[in-house]
Amino acid sequence: MGISTAPAMTAEEIVRLSREHTFFSWSVQGAVDPIAIDHAEGIYLYTPDGRRIIDFNSQLMSVNIGHGDRRVIDAISAQAAKLQYVQPAFATEPRARLGAKLAEIMPGDLDKVFFTLGGAEAIENAIKLARHYSGRHKILARYRSYHGATMGAMTLTGDPRRWANEPGIVGVVRYPDTHRWGEPGPRPVAESLQGLEDVIRYEGAHTIAAVFLETIVGTNGILIPPDGYIAGVREICDRHGILMVADEVMAGFGRTGRWFAVDHWDTVPDLMTMAKGLTSSYLPLGAVAMRHHIAEFFETKMYYGGLTYSSHPLSLAAALATIEVYEEDDLIANAARMGEVMRAHHEALAAKHPSVGAHRSLGLFGILDLVRSREPYEPLTPFNGTSDEMKAIGTFFRENGLYTMIANNSIHTNPPLCISEAQLGEAFEIVDRALEIADRSFRG
Ligand SMILES: Cc1ncc(COP(=O)(O)O)c(C=O)c1O
Repeated sequence: MGISTAPAMTAEEIVRLSREHTFFSWSVQGAVDPIAIDHAEGIYLYTPDGRRIIDFNSQLMSVNIGHGDRRVIDAISAQAAKLQYVQPAFATEPRARLGAKLAEIMPGDLDKVFFTLGGAEAIENAIKLARHYSGRHKILARYRSYHGATMGAMTLTGDPRRWANEPGIVGVVRYPDTHRWGEPGPRPVAESLQGLEDVIRYEGAHTIAAVFLETIVGTNGILIPPDGYIAGVREICDRHGILMVADEVMAGFGRTGRWFAVDHWDTVPDLMTMAKGLTSSYLPLGAVAMRHHIAEFFETKMYYGGLTYSSHPLSLAAALATIEVYEEDDLIANAARMGEVMRAHHEALAAKHPSVGAHRSLGLFGILDLVRSREPYEPLTPFNGTSDEMKAIGTFFRENGLYTMIANNSIHTNPPLCISEAQLGEAFEIVDRALEIADRSFRG
């Protein structure tokens, strides 16, 4: 029986068969307890039995335009009816249009892109491009970072998800972060930049192809670099002839209230990776963008890289339609406006709940860090761990119809950019009640 003629499955059947025959990411398989989702609209997910859940993390900080937008669905259908696939050596209209559109919205002279299927593949190709272009092999990356789960991207990833996947690729060296774990604020800019300078000195600038960084660190805690840091990294890279690679997979496409997070600091990286918000996850797509001089280099040099699904017409059509939605609905400006509302909610929660030790946000990219004590500053979990309180908060959200990412001692607040002020209020009302759980363990 085909899927379209089969009777609808119950939530229990969906979960049981999904668990029995499919493997879940980042999980002990026997411990997964997924929620079955039937459909979604705007900021809401709906279960097969009609329960409504607020999507307060845009899934994986990726469904930026919100769920169920007809304009993107129709664009995908129209492309599917016309041309589903040609291999990447061909040229197509969505490819032509999307390339030109991205060149228009990307900063500076970033004007050419290589399309991939997602963020990790964008990172893999950024590593290759940087190595081919520079003739050097070392890559600098930070500890508090996530760049994807393929082998190269996993090696660049500094967080503990890397440990079980080691050894990775050769030539990856760490440089210091802007924020230390377990501290509420960033380190001084000059100290962070000096740390990068030191690593470059000891490694030898002539051996380093590129410095990678998430412009704003995502899953490792929405770590917003202090003013001067991003421009400082740019200056150091220029001085040493090293490429600067901004990973905008999570921070890009309006999440921070600008098209790209680098736009807040008027900085143009040499390579920029993107995915997620590029199609708002309606279909898989990533890209690595390059500045003009890098694109020029490859005019006469072979690029040793490719993917069967690079420039897939359906994904490109989805991206074009998604970008039109950002523009038509003024979603980037809405993210900036609602970002102010979200910050006010964060501040109110921090004033009311002693367990909110720190909060950070830019646009609709936000997080609350929970603590047992503010002075001295003691997070509610150990590094890379959880606690009974954080688990109870997770259960509370689930029972009260709110989905978001909980990592270590943090609650992420990253809703779709189409969210309204009233909907933000609705979500933060649930967060407010959940924080009482953490307050009970506060020691003052
Ligand atoms: C900053 C960053 N880079 C890369 C990736 C990897 O993207 P993907 O999961 O599409 O491979 C992610 C995913 O969360 C990310 O947040």
